[in-house]
Amino acid sequence: MHRPRILRKSNAIRDLVAETRLSAADFIAPLFIVEGEKIKEEITAIPGYERHSLDMIYARVESLLAMGIQSSLLFIKCSDELKDNSGSEAINPEGLMQRSIREIKQRFPEMLLMSDVALDPYSSYGHDGIVHEQKILNDETVEVLAEMARSHAEAGVDMVAPSDMMDGRIGAIRDTLEQYGHSGVGIMSYSAKYASSYYGPFRTALDSAPGFGDKSSYQMNPANRRAAIREVELDVEEGADIVMIKPAINYLDIIRDIKNTVHVPVSAYHVSGEYAMIKAAAQRGWIDEESAMMEATISIKRAGADLIASYAAADIVTSLNSL
Ligand code: PBG
Repeated sequence: MHRPRILRKSNAIRDLVAETRLSAADFIAPLFIVEGEKIKEEITAIPGYERHSLDMIYARVESLLAMGIQSSLLFIKCSDELKDNSGSEAINPEGLMQRSIREIKQRFPEMLLMSDVALDPYSSYGHDGIVHEQKILNDETVEVLAEMARSHAEAGVDMVAPSDMMDGRIGAIRDTLEQYGHSGVGIMSYSAKYASSYYGPFRTALDSAPGFGDKSSYQMNPANRRAAIREVELDVEEGADIVMIKPAINYLDIIRDIKNTVHVPVSAYHVSGEYAMIKAAAQRGWIDEESAMMEATISIKRAGADLIASYAAADIVTSLNSL
């Protein structure tokens, strides 16, 4: 007779034999920054998550650090009048992103700062690249992305996180960083980023939804598995320090494939729509938020993610501490 239930008999034995554990060190907390002062506004479609003006973000960073979350990923909401088709605000040394990096890093040098590198928040078309006749230009976009990464590096970022899915951008960014003396700045590449419906809430947060068409000429087809391995391999070869799969839950198989393929840390982004679905069901009393969020998050790690970008990071760590 085999008795597998013996290992599930008590909390103590379950904990003892748990194959996967979460801790504060696993998480990257996304941060949304808006222009202005004293702003802390809830993002309706990302319940419990806020956009902050820079003066209000410091308290948030401090509280993340206090709970042991030492990495964050910065996004900014660009004002409409600064948006264009060339990404000029994206490379402005005095832009909101560059100022945010400088100010946060100066106050909290111990916080590992990552910055989103993509044109969509700055694009009058809401696309991740320069648009010409309804097409997204690759190489012209890559040039701007490299410039953008350089300006973040100059502001003091630890790692840049290109989320655009243009071909060749990792190599171009690495070369530019080297050329301008930023050899210590890393790249966390969104390597296998799928054209997903689950980015909807995020796009409302930054007002960055595409003005025409969708992103399927650059983001990946959800039907494809081997294509993800190819994207990741190219990024590693071009110099990515960390590779990311996104979204997470519908792509757990991809996370595992990548984990088994490469020898760099594997990251996964539990994206806005995935988070919002759990929140929304919980608000209706249909699901228990705390345990559902924990289950989703542990699944991402079990699938093979070494690190997880999550809107639930602080909540999860709070739950872990109360166990
Ligand atoms: C944009 C970007 C997106 C996300 C991160 N960077 C959205 C998109 O590609 O349209 C999504 C994150 C989320 O949904 O939580 N380059």
